[in-house]
Order: sequence, then structure tokens, then C-alpha cells
Amino acid sequence: MTKVTVVGAGNVGATCADVLAYREIAEEIVLVDIKEGVAEGKALDIWQKAPINVYDSRTIGSTNDYSKTAGSDVVVITSGLPRKPGMTRDDLIETNAGIVKTVTENVVKHSPDAIIVVVSNPLDVMTYQAHVTSKFPRSRVIGMAGILDTARYRAFIAEELDISPKEIQAILMGGHGDTMVPLPRYTTVAGIPVTELISKEKLDAIIERTKFGGGELVKLMGTSAWYAPGSAAAQMVESIVKNQKRVFPVCIKLDGEYGIDDCYLGVPVILGKNGIEKVIELELNAEEKALLEVSRTHVKEVMAVLDGLRKK
Ligand code: NAI
Ligand code: 2OP
Repeated sequence: MTKVTVVGAGNVGATCADVLAYREIAEEIVLVDIKEGVAEGKALDIWQKAPINVYDSRTIGSTNDYSKTAGSDVVVITSGLPRKPGMTRDDLIETNAGIVKTVTENVVKHSPDAIIVVVSNPLDVMTYQAHVTSKFPRSRVIGMAGILDTARYRAFIAEELDISPKEIQAILMGGHGDTMVPLPRYTTVAGIPVTELISKEKLDAIIERTKFGGGELVKLMGTSAWYAPGSAAAQMVESIVKNQKRVFPVCIKLDGEYGIDDCYLGVPVILGKNGIEKVIELELNAEEKALLEVSRTHVKEVMAVLDGLRKK
């Protein structure tokens, strides 16, 4: 039986659980939250939707009782504060690091063989926190951001060209933040290089909008996004539990790839039953390398903040 736990039954976690259920990605989905009754209520609501939307996946809720999560194949961690207007993702570090640490300890205790998908922000550094706490191999502690950022980029391109978003293939690298690195050279529209269809000026504007895509939504809604983030995390789970070996940009600890050591950054990987099956190393040009270096420097700075908090 495929069992997936989603920790945090807020906007992103509940959306992720819903997608996992209605797309029958897992047979059992356990939703956990610290707020009394919330996970149970949302899990029950999703289960009661099964006869209407026609699916068999069973959703179960739990208020902080991890025994119900035991033996999960994948655990998605979405617990933590979201951004409010005027905040950066990095402002969340102290509170969310504590939450991710406690949650990870519980995950390790009850699901020692699980693959952990981190969603909580600041994403790259929360992946670091979960990796250090779990002591799992790096292939089993991965962060979701690249699929979301790439989806925003692809949606903006589809809109600009008035074309199906299904036709847009793209890859994006780096940290989850303003320093992310979209790669127009590796962006195609049904196989046609995007640079043949959109002017440099328009593409640059799309890249800028993508970089601040999270902030655009925070400004509109007063909190951060959840439909696309929840669906993106579910897509990672699907590739793992079905061993699809799809290629996605995923946050992972780099151990020398791209000439980078000991830093958590989004890179293209093959995602399968073992988590990261392979990191794909692209040949970057000088400009792309420079942008990735800016991203690396930023993530390293936030990692150092976390190291400082750990010493307190
Ligand atoms: P939310 O506030 O709607 O939900 C968070 C949930 O976590 C709440 O229900 C809260 O009770 C729960 N929680 C807090 N401490 C907990 C603990 N110790 N154990 C279990 N549950 C706990 O927030 P939302 O919108 O769902 O966002 C969740 C996180 O995901 C935020 O940190 C946000 O910044 C991040 N995020 C990351 C994205 C990415 O691309 N990586 C995209 C969107 C959001
Ligand atoms: C997003 O990009 C806030 O990280 C969240 O929507």
C-alpha cells in the first residue's frame, strides 16, 4: 500500500493532500497538524468528496499523533508560517526552523525509510534543516520550489504566446527566491526554442515576473500561494511513488555538482522510487554560471543564519 503523510494542514498541505487523493497518487494519505481537529476535519472533508469526484484514496487526519503516519513512503512537510505582505521568505527562518526540526524528528522515528519533501520556507534552508536533523542520505531529503517557479514561468510564456501551457517545457535552477535562475536557453515551445518566438525584451520581463511570482501573490492575497505549490509537491510525490523518473528542478544538497559543495540549491534531477536517482549537470554558459553563483551566495548566507540559530 502506498502511504503518504502531509504535515501541516494549512493552505498548501491541505491542497497537496487533496491532489494526492483525487488523482489517486497514494492509497492512504495522512494529514497532520498541531491545531486540534483541523487535520481531522480537512481529511474527512476530502474523503467525503471521494464519491462525488470518484476516487478511492483514503485521507486520515491527526492532531500531532505521528503513530498514524508510521511506515509512510513519502512525507511532505508544509508546516510553518507563510509570508505576509512586506516579509521575505528569509524572515520566517527562526520559527520555521524549529517547526521543521521537531516535525523531522517525528518523521524519522515513525517512518525511517521515508523520502522527505520539504515545502516550508525559506525552502532551501528548511531542506538543509530537515537533512541535518534526519541524517538521511541527500537523495531522500529534497525541497519543492523549482516545479512551482518553473510552472509560473511556463504559465506566463503560455499567456504571452496564447498557447497551451502543456506545450511549454522549461528548466530553472538556483534558490527559491529572487535569485532563482530561469534558463531561456533550455526553454522550448513544442520543441521550438522560446527565443525564436518571444523577443528578448518580453522574455526578460517574464523572467522578472517569475522571480517575484511568489511576492505578486502575497501582495494580492495577504498570504502566500497554495494551489500551484500544493500541486507541485503532489507531482513530486507522484514521480517518487510511481517511480516515473521524471525530470524536475528540485532542491538538494550539492556535493560538487556545478562546482558547488555543501549548498542546498535547485537543480534538474531524475525523481524516482529512491528519491533523487540522478542529478543532471547541464553545461552552463558564463552568464548562467554567474547567476547561479549569486544564488549560491544568497543561500549560503541564510544557511549561516540557521547555523547561528542552532548554536544559540
Ligand atoms: P498555513 O498557515 O496555511 O499552514 C501552515 C500549517 O502548519 C498551519 O495549519 C499550522 O497549524 C501548521 N503547523 C505549524 N506548526 C506545526 C507543527 N509543529 N506541526 C504540524 N503542523 C504545524 O501556511 P501555508 O500557506 O500552507 O504555507 C506553509 C509553508 O509553506 C510556509 O512556510 C510557506 O512559506 C511555504 N510555502 C512554500 C512554497 C514553496 O515553493 N516551497 C510555496 C508556498 C508556501
Ligand atoms: C511562493 O513562491 C511563498 O514560496 C512561496 O509562492
